[in-house]
Amino acid sequence: MSIGLKIEDLEKSLETKRIGRRIIYEEVLDSTNSYALSLGEKGLEEGTCIICDHQRAGRGRRGRSWFSPKGKNIYMSLILRPEIPLESLSAITFLSSLSVYYLLKESLSLPAALKWPNDVLVRAKKISGSLIELPKGLGRPDFLVVGIGLNVNMREEDLPDELKDKATSLRIEKGVDFERLGLIKEILEKFERYYFLLLSEGPLEIIRIWEKEAEILGKRIRVRDDERVIEGKCLGLNKMGAIVLDLGGRLEIINAGDVEVDAPRT
Ligand code: BTN
Repeated sequence: MSIGLKIEDLEKSLETKRIGRRIIYEEVLDSTNSYALSLGEKGLEEGTCIICDHQRAGRGRRGRSWFSPKGKNIYMSLILRPEIPLESLSAITFLSSLSVYYLLKESLSLPAALKWPNDVLVRAKKISGSLIELPKGLGRPDFLVVGIGLNVNMREEDLPDELKDKATSLRIEKGVDFERLGLIKEILEKFERYYFLLLSEGPLEIIRIWEKEAEILGKRIRVRDDERVIEGKCLGLNKMGAIVLDLGGRLEIINAGDVEVDAPRT
């Protein structure tokens, strides 16, 4: 079954006003984010959704690659043109993760969890990630792209050895295959709901929902970045989505890194 054949059905059934109103499907791309960036430069409208069946060079956060085998998973990117301050943009990562998280938790009854800043996990293994990218250049960009990867029909044996302990998929968790377009429809509809909430209420509204669902407040957290490891109590996220840590009276703002929640004391 080619994912491409039914894109028209998705367009017809989609109950959104803006997000996914235009869908562009390609069988193979280097990365849906790269393609979306080039289409954004050409002026394609807000909400345009790029989907592909296989990425040759899928990108993850912090320069990592995103494993993107053919015909198995969801690889999609949206072009957005929000009129919000640059400092609010990180809320888009959180609302993107929330859209996938609620799909897994509410529609598929999976024990989904959120991990800062952009991961969705099931049973402590990563199932989805979102990646915001801005076009290169000076000044305020007039668009951005947000890419979503969701592992859907990969089996244990499809995973490379280095991911076997770290990644999972809907197929691995549920034991059945899923129809990807139905999942994309739900993600786009949920995404629009939270995107409109961001536009009307601002980033803190999204960040508060994420904080609550991630159950991160008051937890002991260890953050690793390229240079150091910091541990402290999480006081929450600020409006830019950075983690505010209490290091025993001194506050530290964490903008990037890999977090471990409920880190054992060392
Ligand atoms: C991460 O968790 O590190 C982010 C992963 C984002 C992966 C998606 S797949 C679709 C889109 N295209 C890319 O190259 N990356 C994102």
